Amino acid sequence: MPEIVIVKDKAEAGRLVADYLRERLVQRPDLVLGLATGSSPLPVYENLAAQQVNAGQSSSPGIFSRLQAFALDEYVGLPPGHSQSFQSVLTEQVVRPLGLLTENVHFPDVSAEQIQQAAERYEQEIEAAGGVDIQLLGIGTNGHLGFNEPGSSLASRTRVKTLSEQTRVDNARFFENVSQVPTLCLTQGLGTISAAKHLILLAFGKQKADAIVAAVEGPITATTPGSVLQFHPHATVIVDTAAASKLANSSYYLQAWNNKPDWQTI
Ligand code: GLP
Repeated sequence: MPEIVIVKDKAEAGRLVADYLRERLVQRPDLVLGLATGSSPLPVYENLAAQQVNAGQSSSPGIFSRLQAFALDEYVGLPPGHSQSFQSVLTEQVVRPLGLLTENVHFPDVSAEQIQQAAERYEQEIEAAGGVDIQLLGIGTNGHLGFNEPGSSLASRTRVKTLSEQTRVDNARFFENVSQVPTLCLTQGLGTISAAKHLILLAFGKQKADAIVAAVEGPITATTPGSVLQFHPHATVIVDTAAASKLANSSYYLQAWNNKPDWQTI
């Protein structure tokens, strides 16, 4: 089962994960990092960016110069360069602030005519980079990982999926209204995600409590995509007390303000 780490707030989560990533980058400058969108990984990106600014390196890649990054998923059907495409969002939130080299940051080619071939090419790119070392993840209120909606095969690979109504409603906050949220996406599969050496899932707020309890304490089933974490040899779930509030075994879990997580090495 994943290591569960309960934090006081998002800032503590951001600090923990950013410190871990910086340590890993010192040991392995060519680390391969899986990037997720959504609000949950933001404290990590913000902490990394703030340290870059403190070090006076905001416009130079510094410790990130050899980092390879792969996006987890993308909408299909938005015009190229749309402000809400995950490529634009990750460019604004991660690539620019950290000064990542654009040639080291990979996005699936969702404008390809043969989109399934583009999905297969993306799998090959990940493999050619030696696989993802650390994959950051959020979780949807309906339990989705990446855009693997409930019902996704636990062994699935990168492919086109239809977004659920729940996900479109949840993501409508980034668009003028729900009708503008694309209906299709391209996402790494649950099998692709599981191949990363270390998974770090972040979730905050009581609206994530049901998804978290189902993912970590519920049965392993395609109906609960997040439950694939229970199969993973090295998964860490970082939650605030609200997102952890429905966990039955919370007394067994680590409270980050008392103990340092056992990150293990990858
Ligand atoms: C999106 C992304 C997911 C993300 C989820 C949760 O739909 N495709 O990767 O985990 O939303 O987002 P948030 O962290 O904003 O709650």
